[in-house]
Amino acid sequence: IPVDPFDLILFGATGDLARRKILPGLFHRFAVGQMPEGARIIGTARSAMNRAEFTEAVHASLLEFAPQAAKQSALLEKFLASVEYVRVDAGGEDDWDTLAEAIRPDVVQAFYLSVSPALFGSIASNLKSRGIASANSRVVVEKPFGHDLASARDLNADLRRNFDEHQIYRIDHYLGKETVQNLMALRFANALWEPLWNSTHVDHVQITVAESLGVEGRGEYYDRSGAMRDMVQNHLMQLLCLTAMEPPSRFTSDAVRDEKVKVIEALEPVAPSDIVRGQYRAQGSAGSYCDHAGNPHSSTESFIAMKVNIGNWRWAGTPFYLRTGKKLRARCSEIAVVFRDPPHMIFPDMDGRRSNAMIIRLQPDEGITLRNTIKEPGPGGFRLAEVSLDMTFAEALGGRAEPQDAYERLIMDVIRGDQTLFMRGDEVEAAWTWADPIIAAWEDAGPAPSPYDPGGAGPEDALMLLHREDRRWREIGG
Ligand code: BG6
Repeated sequence: IPVDPFDLILFGATGDLARRKILPGLFHRFAVGQMPEGARIIGTARSAMNRAEFTEAVHASLLEFAPQAAKQSALLEKFLASVEYVRVDAGGEDDWDTLAEAIRPDVVQAFYLSVSPALFGSIASNLKSRGIASANSRVVVEKPFGHDLASARDLNADLRRNFDEHQIYRIDHYLGKETVQNLMALRFANALWEPLWNSTHVDHVQITVAESLGVEGRGEYYDRSGAMRDMVQNHLMQLLCLTAMEPPSRFTSDAVRDEKVKVIEALEPVAPSDIVRGQYRAQGSAGSYCDHAGNPHSSTESFIAMKVNIGNWRWAGTPFYLRTGKKLRARCSEIAVVFRDPPHMIFPDMDGRRSNAMIIRLQPDEGITLRNTIKEPGPGGFRLAEVSLDMTFAEALGGRAEPQDAYERLIMDVIRGDQTLFMRGDEVEAAWTWADPIIAAWEDAGPAPSPYDPGGAGPEDALMLLHREDRRWREIGG
């Protein structure tokens, strides 16, 4: 379904995110007819460029990051015709009138701030005070949304001085991933799982976001963040919320986000003994984290595993184990809901390690697996085997599983005015309220991160986090 015509004003239009994700995402939506021809993309950046030069840069980005564009030249040409450029020095006082003239007041205006968060405040106030923004305006911001609670509050205050909360779209691109949204469908469109979805039946939950790449090229940013700020406070937290939240009464943005905030507020403080931090270290120095980060004495974690307890009726007694890291064996993200063992076992062969589990795979191979125990075929004895009921979305939906990048979905939701898949201000602050003391504990006096080999499953201690409770992690990429 096409959205209404809009002006998308892209601050940071020559930056990496714009080139890799935003512009290709818009092109894909244009190619399938969702972005109407009356829509325009107004790039802005500090560089002095004319429209033709910017269009040429967009063209080059599409050839690189949306390679099918090369085969659709007529479409590509039409798409490029919707591109404009206005030079704006976002930190300065000039240029705003030119921008105002370029924008149509009678269509949805989406101001996408793909720039440093340090500029959010001045852009928002210029848009407001100069009358560029209107009731039709939305402002879109990227992570990192703050470095801690205090900075997140400042950013929220900067934005809210100029826009209402219903106009502010804070992106966490994990919420744009199809399987993440499917988690809501799975839980709230089926009657089968809800009776089991609690501590009576669920032994524990494992949330893994493993990456095979290191921090090459982003070392400077990453070294100030680490895995806790870069991944746990936002992406893993969102996965945890969607897995653990109560069913909302309606599928509206505030009903969903109210339930997510309640989960974050119910998180118990995490004891230092329930956290393992790691840093990849290759034999010799090349290829180690410190090398990539350009900081030989860095104590930033490139891996983290932790046990999190949710203090509410549904989940008391069911730990959620989170783990994420760079330079691991495979790129593999999943949520595994591991059910309790049968209360009474009549088969002698059952070794207690065959618990039922539902594995929700976010990437690669998006889908759902159910682990079940069956009888091994054959007349000799009664032996048990563990098998999978497997569903991949691509196979199950055939041609209807239209591949789409998370950003495409999210940008179209901005235009539609649907905030369900965006973080509300109080949600971000609640997540920092939980994360800040954890980070402070190791920044003050915590142990240095444990080394781990690139290409493995993280440090040994991370395995112990579960072994000591007679549980085990699922194999990464297994
Ligand atoms: C980003 C992090 O938000 O998410 C990166 O800053 C990380 O460090 C990336 O690599 C992972 O996203 P995806 O979609 O590749 O799983």
